[in-house]
Amino acid sequence: MTTIIDGKAAAAALRLRVADETAALKQAGITPGLAVVLVGEDPASQVYVRSKARMTVEVGMASFEHKLPVDTSEAELLALVAMLNADDAVDGILVQLPLPAQIDSDKVLRAIDPAKDVDGFHPINVGLVATGSGGIAPCTPYGAMLLIQSVQPRLDGLHAVIVGRSNIVGKPMAQLLLQQNCTVTIAHSRTRDLPDVVRGADIVVAAVGRPEMIRGDWIKPGAIVIDVGINRIATDDGKSRLVGDVAYAEAAAQAEAITPVPGGVGPMTIACLLRNTVEAARQRRA
Ligand code: GUN
Repeated sequence: MTTIIDGKAAAAALRLRVADETAALKQAGITPGLAVVLVGEDPASQVYVRSKARMTVEVGMASFEHKLPVDTSEAELLALVAMLNADDAVDGILVQLPLPAQIDSDKVLRAIDPAKDVDGFHPINVGLVATGSGGIAPCTPYGAMLLIQSVQPRLDGLHAVIVGRSNIVGKPMAQLLLQQNCTVTIAHSRTRDLPDVVRGADIVVAAVGRPEMIRGDWIKPGAIVIDVGINRIATDDGKSRLVGDVAYAEAAAQAEAITPVPGGVGPMTIACLLRNTVEAARQRRA
């Protein structure tokens, strides 16, 4: 029987834990606070930012929302980041990506105080995670890791194949799996014989952004399949639906455990963001 990994339930359980930790900090006079900055009006980003703010308040933290017009200059955004860095009530700062073209995203991410970088995108945190010296791990790979360990706590010696080499998912995912003593392969668009590479995997993490690219016959029987992709595709009746990077039904027939889309990795991302924020508050203020 294939286990369908319930990311919604895992995320709800993690949010409850974060709410407990938040309550304990509040007892000590510390209210963890998360600032989210949105530049422009990208509809998908607006949806994310709204859910982040709602869940921040639900776990008992303070939420600070900053919505800036699409023509905001880089200097204006850097000035806001500097203000949030200096604000003691702000424990976490998240600048929603993508940013408009006139703004250099790298410059903005580097301006965030690493102690408040709850996205884990600052080079200091990237380095700390890579050397296994602590640091803040990016939310999506961290959430994916928790889901893997919910079905298989000991990963020693397992071969993990990550499809996708982004800074937000693929590369940090590799670091987290290495920390758990996996043998890690990062495959990508130039990888030769990709189906054969994936066939060697005990754990497959798909993060390429191509709808249903990874087929069932690429999956080793008994593998754990984690699908980070969220792709909207048109359906025959003129509507649309969300699919992952994995052909779900085919892969589920092979896998020991698999995440659905939606309801798999997606819900874990915001829960991990809240967890990173409460942890940042504890590290910086407690
Ligand atoms: N846009 C899409 N995913 C993310 C994320 O994890 N963090 C930020 N800041 N922006 C995003």
